[in-house]
Amino acid sequence: MTFKITDAVTWVGKRDWELRRFHGEEYSTHKGSTYNAYLVRDEKTALIETVWAPFAHEFIEQLRAEVDLKTIDYVIANHAESDHSGGLPELMRLIPGVPVYCTANGVKSLKGHYHQDWNFQVVKTGQRLSLGSRELIFIEAPMLHWPDTMFCYLTGEDILFSNDAFGHHLATEGMYNDLADPCALEAECIKYYANILTPFSALVKRKIEEFASLGLPLKMICPSHGTIWRDNPIQIVSKYLEWANDYQEHQVSIVYDTMWNGTRRMAEAMGEGLAQADPALRVRLFNAGKADKNDIVTEIFRSKGVLVGSPTINRGYLSSLGGLLEMVRGLGFKRKKAAAFGAYGWSGESVKLLTAQLKECGFEVPAASEGGIRAMWNPDADALAQCRAFGLEFGKSL
Ligand code: FEO
Repeated sequence: MTFKITDAVTWVGKRDWELRRFHGEEYSTHKGSTYNAYLVRDEKTALIETVWAPFAHEFIEQLRAEVDLKTIDYVIANHAESDHSGGLPELMRLIPGVPVYCTANGVKSLKGHYHQDWNFQVVKTGQRLSLGSRELIFIEAPMLHWPDTMFCYLTGEDILFSNDAFGHHLATEGMYNDLADPCALEAECIKYYANILTPFSALVKRKIEEFASLGLPLKMICPSHGTIWRDNPIQIVSKYLEWANDYQEHQVSIVYDTMWNGTRRMAEAMGEGLAQADPALRVRLFNAGKADKNDIVTEIFRSKGVLVGSPTINRGYLSSLGGLLEMVRGLGFKRKKAAAFGAYGWSGESVKLLTAQLKECGFEVPAASEGGIRAMWNPDADALAQCRAFGLEFGKSL
């Protein structure tokens, strides 16, 4: 159901309560999501974004109940990824010829997705589109998080439509940040940043500075996923600046997988050593074969140190760690220390290979932890004592 945000702006998006995986199977969405689209009515009518393709028909029906489609003057496509552009093919069949405003890269992406030659109008930063008494100001935001991404700002209402930035995968009935469960909201925001925006942190900082330099008043931020920031919208901007600055908390994450519990027992002993090194340190353990990978990535993002363990299998390490470390490598976390560990029976390559992969991920491996730690077969009391000592030393190095 649609709702009015201001006299001029109406939310016309879709709450997706059932969504559990996003970006194919790559991103977990434990609490669903929303695809936010906005209708702006002044002398002219503009539609900002659509929804994901499976909901295109529902979207059009809902939009039709809200407005005569023939009165839509402009379509704004801030981002071509199909969770926002999926409604365009059906919509543009009904209103062919209506201009679609997007960046030059947006044209490439939209054509690449839909192979349609819609009436594209390419815009650049600072360009304005008059709606009557209000204007839309376009702000290109390349690589936040696709090359085509842009924001737009509505004068008169002082609203920034920020697309994916400041968004979060959280379905709620009350669509404002002050109505959401604050813990769930914070958790989904940091997960979104850690898993999607980390590689672009330098651009995040620059874009926020650029927007601030425009001196535009800001009453609300309307992202394209999750709740609308109407209560102190600057709070999420401040969080982004904090997260973009090689973020870390006083935490170590121990991430392992195990076959017959040897590596698990090593992980637990190292956790005890870390706590001995610093009782104030938050130590968290995750079995990569059982815990959600995006949640683990979020915990690594929050950590200053990471210990990664796997037994040796077929001269390598377990596939759950392989998939996870590939995600971590692409995200390019900075200013974090790491070391490897694992149990083995005969050849025992996992620790050496994990150490190399941790370096490839951009982690600093302290000299004292360079060789990692291995335990043959099931760790006995001596081996566990060595793991405790390894954890203690690693904790001291932080
Ligand atoms: Fe929400 Fe980049 O799409």
